[in-house]
Amino acid sequence: MPQRLIIDTDPGIDDALAILLTLASSELQLEGLSIVHGNCSMQQGARNARAVLELAGASHIPVFNGCEFPLVQPSLLAPETHGNTGLGYAELPDPVMPVDPRHAVDFLIETVLASPGEITIAAIGPLTNVALAIRKEPRFAPAVKDLFIMGGAVRYDGNTTPLAEFNTYVDPHAAHIVFHSGIPIMLVPLDVTYQCILTPEDVTRLQASPTGIPKFIADSTRFYMEFHDEYQQIAGCVINDPLALALIYRPEICDYEEIFVDVEISGGVAMGKTFGDFYKMTKRSPNMRVALQVRPRDFMELFLERIESLCQAQATAGGSG
Ligand code: BDR
Ligand code: CA
Repeated sequence: MPQRLIIDTDPGIDDALAILLTLASSELQLEGLSIVHGNCSMQQGARNARAVLELAGASHIPVFNGCEFPLVQPSLLAPETHGNTGLGYAELPDPVMPVDPRHAVDFLIETVLASPGEITIAAIGPLTNVALAIRKEPRFAPAVKDLFIMGGAVRYDGNTTPLAEFNTYVDPHAAHIVFHSGIPIMLVPLDVTYQCILTPEDVTRLQASPTGIPKFIADSTRFYMEFHDEYQQIAGCVINDPLALALIYRPEICDYEEIFVDVEISGGVAMGKTFGDFYKMTKRSPNMRVALQVRPRDFMELFLERIESLCQAQATAGGSG
């Protein structure tokens, strides 16, 4: 039985790749995309999500508008990283499928409460929607099967401030609510995602596959690679979000520790920093598993093979993309 899944996302170039990887993974049954502010505005993200679903022939997956702003902090978008549209240089046609009229937070709550203990959530943007679901419906957190979070930098530098990762920096108060919610959490921080680099050679390899998906990946990641080159002197681009999806069904790609992790919200230089109590100084029980080591080429090979299979399947089904 495939794992039932909701992706909470701010698409975003690597979010789009995570959506494509999910569609390419028969181990996962994607039930909807709840959209949140982050890499681009929430409205732009909802547009991007639908455009990517249509590109992949998956317009039956519902998309829900979520929160436009962080809980407390002012909005912070990332056009320098993901481009003004959120998808780099990619130009996808305006989507035809509508946004579902329900709010993303209500979709999260209703789906989870309808099947307690069955729904996995992958949160690959700021955690505003998930935090609001926790606060709005006290029965939500105990009913979530598990929550895979791409976010945080535990023993690693930040990518938004010297200390903080983007998703936890943009809405640290939401991350605080989620980390303390009791939901079984798998944290996928920069410690592991920053080893997972899509190279220009990888993108060239994908161009041999049919449909419009390889061109979308080339156009979107070209912008992302320019960002990584200019700001971080990385050749290629880090694809953070897809790793979180892969770990749902291929956990052996990483090694983990169960620890207590918190996030700094007092507003100083460390705002949004995630920190782990490795030596049990706080005497608090672990609140999550944290991925701390990764076999990056295993993951990249899985990602490339799955995208190639998705392209082949879509071409066979008659979709040109
Ligand atoms: C996270 O922030 C965004 O840039 C990416 O989509 C990813 O979710 C990495 O810090
Ligand atoms: Ca993201």
